[in-house]
Amino acid sequence: MAKVAAWLMVFLFFWEHYSSVVCLSEFTRDDFPADFVFGAGTSAFQYEGAWAEDGKSPSIWDTFTHEGWVGGRTADMASDGYHKYKGDIKLMSDTGLEAYRLSISWPRLLPNGRGAVNPKGLMYYNNVIDELIKHGIQPHVTLHHLDVPQVLQDEYGGWLSPKIIDDFKELADVCFKEFGDRVSYWTTMNEPNINSLASFDYGFFPPRRCSHPYGANCSGGNSAVEPYITVHNYILAHSAAAELYRKKYQTIQKGQIGINIYTIWFTPLTNSTEDAMATKRALDFILGWILNPILFGEYPDSMKKNAGSRLPFFSYLESQRVKGSCDFIGINYYFALYVADDPVIDKIGPRDSSSDMFAKFTAYKNVPPVSRILPPTALINDFESLWKLLNYLKKTYRNPPIFVHENGYGFGVIDTMNDVGRTYFLSGFIRSVLDSIRNGVDVRGYFIWTFVDAFELLSGYSTRFGLYHVNFEGSGHERTPKFSAYWYHNFLKNGTSIKIENNGKQWESARSE
Ligand code: BGC
Repeated sequence: MAKVAAWLMVFLFFWEHYSSVVCLSEFTRDDFPADFVFGAGTSAFQYEGAWAEDGKSPSIWDTFTHEGWVGGRTADMASDGYHKYKGDIKLMSDTGLEAYRLSISWPRLLPNGRGAVNPKGLMYYNNVIDELIKHGIQPHVTLHHLDVPQVLQDEYGGWLSPKIIDDFKELADVCFKEFGDRVSYWTTMNEPNINSLASFDYGFFPPRRCSHPYGANCSGGNSAVEPYITVHNYILAHSAAAELYRKKYQTIQKGQIGINIYTIWFTPLTNSTEDAMATKRALDFILGWILNPILFGEYPDSMKKNAGSRLPFFSYLESQRVKGSCDFIGINYYFALYVADDPVIDKIGPRDSSSDMFAKFTAYKNVPPVSRILPPTALINDFESLWKLLNYLKKTYRNPPIFVHENGYGFGVIDTMNDVGRTYFLSGFIRSVLDSIRNGVDVRGYFIWTFVDAFELLSGYSTRFGLYHVNFEGSGHERTPKFSAYWYHNFLKNGTSIKIENNGKQWESARSE
């Protein structure tokens, strides 16, 4: 018996290690399942522009940028997608995109936040969806990505109030009714976790709410409780929309509905038990905050324990509704961090949701900085981190269907047409996805962020993620393919293989670009 146990241990050890290092050095599109989709994405606020055209009302991001919080840059024109979508969809088709991830601008479709539908807004999204279908590109639509109508912010404080749940459900209803005959993949919302932190804890996203010592320049707020309240409202709004879809539309329209979350992979800084536990807490506070309720009906125990009464609770009925309210989860992945235990945090006074983790974060080393909102020092490390994240999701959340909704590289002024570094970055992560699929993770699609250069949240036009360069200075906002657009095209259309030689070397050349 002891012998069997010993062999089992040896087997498990090798299996864990072998499966985590096995990777394909060369692969093609055909190595992925035929129904797996490759795409790219944008969001309405960052792409469309036309901020006050054809009946659209302002969003909180229009107000924020007009107040000068992004160095005087606004998304008034952004990538001018509102006028250039046809040409862009042609480019998508030429590139070989199988799917496109877009979001609906709530204040364009429902300028009063509820009630009357703006016919021009409706026409715009109908045109975009029709054009995508005409080109054989699957639309993957997110109902809400950042742009809360300013009217709802003024009326009741936006995501701070449970009143938003009904209004969000109404937005969802309009979208399912009007577009659901052609849209099969619905995501209710983008990154409720990070939006709540950025908007209501650190206060650097609109509506700029925070409290000392967790943010500066805020107009008001309470970092200790508001992030928890807003996420709670996001989750209830998600489940209301999902329930509506399932009851009223899904049988006829045969689509799927999911939610998107912001992810970070966390690794313990040392192999101490304390750091391992801190890492688990960090995963709970960032991923479990949304995924535990959505999949299991409750917040993670570590959150309940550390946030105590500041964390709202789900009634029995709410919990039943929220549980299982998605057909897939969407993840946005950009970087990994080391985590160390931080037992002294509670000496600093009122805690926010980050300090409730009792953890310190350190950036991975030796790789180029990626422009991110949180934290400013974050660095990307190895591509395996996405593999680890996907496998963690499989193990912890019973292998849900997953779409990698965003993965991309934001270059600052050094972004050039010759963006070879971006292709190294993307190649490594695409390989991680393939390795995960081979390891039984149910990943169904991968989207590059972004298709064309777009307005970046806190840096305007100086950080670019696009496969296509946009000439923001020129009146025509001309598009020019970067090297990465050709590279993606060759991978998707010409069967060209992606070769992964040596991460270290690749990063070296990416950095010297
Ligand atoms: C957001 C995008 C943003 C990207 C790069 C993501 O978390 O969903 O809107 O442009 O990060 O910062």
